[in-house]
Amino acid sequence: MPPKHVAIVTCSTRSPRLNPTITQYVYDVLAHDPTIPTKKVDDNTEDTDPRHITLSILDLSKQHLPLYDEAIIPASLPAHDPTPHYTTEHAKAWSAVVRQYDGFIFVTPQYNWSIPASLKNALDYLFHEWKGKPAGIVSYGSRGGRKAADHLKSILTGLRMRVVGTAPGLVVKNTGLPVGALSEEQERVDLDEKDLAGWKDAGVEGMMRNLGMELVCELDKERW
Ligand SMILES: Cc1cc2nc3c(=O)[nH]c(=O)nc-3n(C[C@H](O)[C@H](O)[C@H](O)COP(=O)(O)O)c2cc1C
Repeated sequence: MPPKHVAIVTCSTRSPRLNPTITQYVYDVLAHDPTIPTKKVDDNTEDTDPRHITLSILDLSKQHLPLYDEAIIPASLPAHDPTPHYTTEHAKAWSAVVRQYDGFIFVTPQYNWSIPASLKNALDYLFHEWKGKPAGIVSYGSRGGRKAADHLKSILTGLRMRVVGTAPGLVVKNTGLPVGALSEEQERVDLDEKDLAGWKDAGVEGMMRNLGMELVCELDKERW
């Protein structure tokens, strides 16, 4: 059985931004956790473990989605193959990208007590491509981004996604961003030791493991 593909989604799109650094942290913790049955994306050896997953980073800033401009309500498109029925090329392209994945971990900052508009915009474009798939949420902010995580859970539930229970909230108080727009290579910043120590004290890695295992269990079940 081929492994299931999980996207770890970088949800903010401004520059500079913290999201690529936090997304990489989430990727590294899950990829190095021996209890999460990950398989490398480029490992083509035969696979017999039905629980195996691959992890990839999906950055919304690279999708270049304009503000939502589709004429047809996504939920009204044919469920088995909505992609060719979108009216815009960018919606067709985004639909094809999301259909490649079996599950998602959204790594989102908190913007004004909610999620960034970039994430809501990307979610609104599609329906059947999300429906029935497992989703995890990792939030961050000066208090961990709980309000963003709660809003996102509600939106994903509306999209009929299967949102797992564990949602780590990373308190970021000390990690700073450089001033001015950055190239892709410069986008990762060093996480401040005090923030990392706070996450350790709060048991963030254990929560990340729970999130990962809950996602693996959901992926093992049949999609609705
Ligand atoms: C428009 C905006 C609104 C914000 N609102 C909140 C907020 O409600 N609560 C919070 O803890 N932090 C808030 N912040 C701080 C962000 O959590 C912090 O800047 C974080 O780095 C944003 O993620 P990003 O750098 O990936 O965009 C806000 C930041 C921005 C840019």
